Amino acid sequence: MSEVTNLFEPAIDYPDFDIKERLDSLVGLDDHKEQLSKILGLLINPNGIQSWAKKYYPNLEKVVNNLLRRPPLIVLEGDVGSGKTELATTIGDLVARQEGITVTLLPLSLSTRGQGHVGEMTRLISTAFDEVINKSRKLKSSAGKNRGGIILLVDEADALAQSRESNQMHHEDKAGVNAFIRGIDRLGNGKLPGAVILCTNRLNSLDPAIRRRAAEILKFDRPNKEQRYFVLNPLLKELEFKQTDINKIVSGTGKTEHRNYGYTYSDLTQRLLPSIVLSAYPDNRIDTEKAIEIARKMQPTPPFQDIEISN
Ligand SMILES: Nc1ncnc2c1ncn2[C@@H]1O[C@H](COP(=O)(O)OP(=O)(O)OP(=O)(O)O)[C@@H](O)[C@H]1O
Ligand SMILES: [Mg+2]
Repeated sequence: MSEVTNLFEPAIDYPDFDIKERLDSLVGLDDHKEQLSKILGLLINPNGIQSWAKKYYPNLEKVVNNLLRRPPLIVLEGDVGSGKTELATTIGDLVARQEGITVTLLPLSLSTRGQGHVGEMTRLISTAFDEVINKSRKLKSSAGKNRGGIILLVDEADALAQSRESNQMHHEDKAGVNAFIRGIDRLGNGKLPGAVILCTNRLNSLDPAIRRRAAEILKFDRPNKEQRYFVLNPLLKELEFKQTDINKIVSGTGKTEHRNYGYTYSDLTQRLLPSIVLSAYPDNRIDTEKAIEIARKMQPTPPFQDIEISN
């Protein structure tokens, strides 16, 4: 396999109906969805804002140019299991439908790669940007609507999220950050139909030069009571839980006097629900009291501590 094939996880093309269903099932992220899809739309299809201007403000020039000069980077930051990766991998569907063009996501995962070898991280990032720039250059139209758009997803970007100012940062990682900044600038200066989404748990340690280049930083949190209800209600209803029992489970998954944080979205869907079902499987129906007890006793994932570890 060529280096480029190895660099990315399988690409995703949008629109795609299954992906749309996943995007639609995300709870509590409507504002993020809207904002993210608009920014990506602007970057991938500048024609859209030009048509808007022509319709509503025919003399607009500086404002449009200003908007089109936005850096092609959006940062998704926040707690574990809060929907960053899920939103980043599904938002392309909304952008594609909204703009009426095909969008492709190239996911680059830094967590399992580029570790150990000198020069590896820098080479990885530079090659990823080369690929995104080449692909999006081919999709750019000289006049009118672009033929498509590319989104580069840099997930679990904690190595990049370390400030170059930090003393503990390895020389090699600093070079990686520099390569990333160069890549963003190249993509932006070329006015190409490409954009980068970066996901991190550690905004506080994100390099200032990367932060400055973010057109938007979207924060992700744990679900509040209402949002937990929206996740759990349809699932527990299917299991024929009574409304009062559903409410008890929703309350049991929030903050308690012993801990100042509740369940994450993924705690609800990937741990709590399976545990409830498995408590009855394979021979019984679910015992509601037992299910409420499970929700009360299970320990939610502790919040990500965004602190610098000192020696
Ligand atoms: N807002 C949400 N609504 C419904 N389900 C959600 C939501 N957020 C997360 N989930 C569920 O949790 C799973 C994990 O979410 P995701 O991988 O996007 O978390 P993340 O924010 O990227 O976490 P990490 O920082 O650990 O990578 C999703 O596949 C989905 O099942
Ligand atoms: Mg993630």
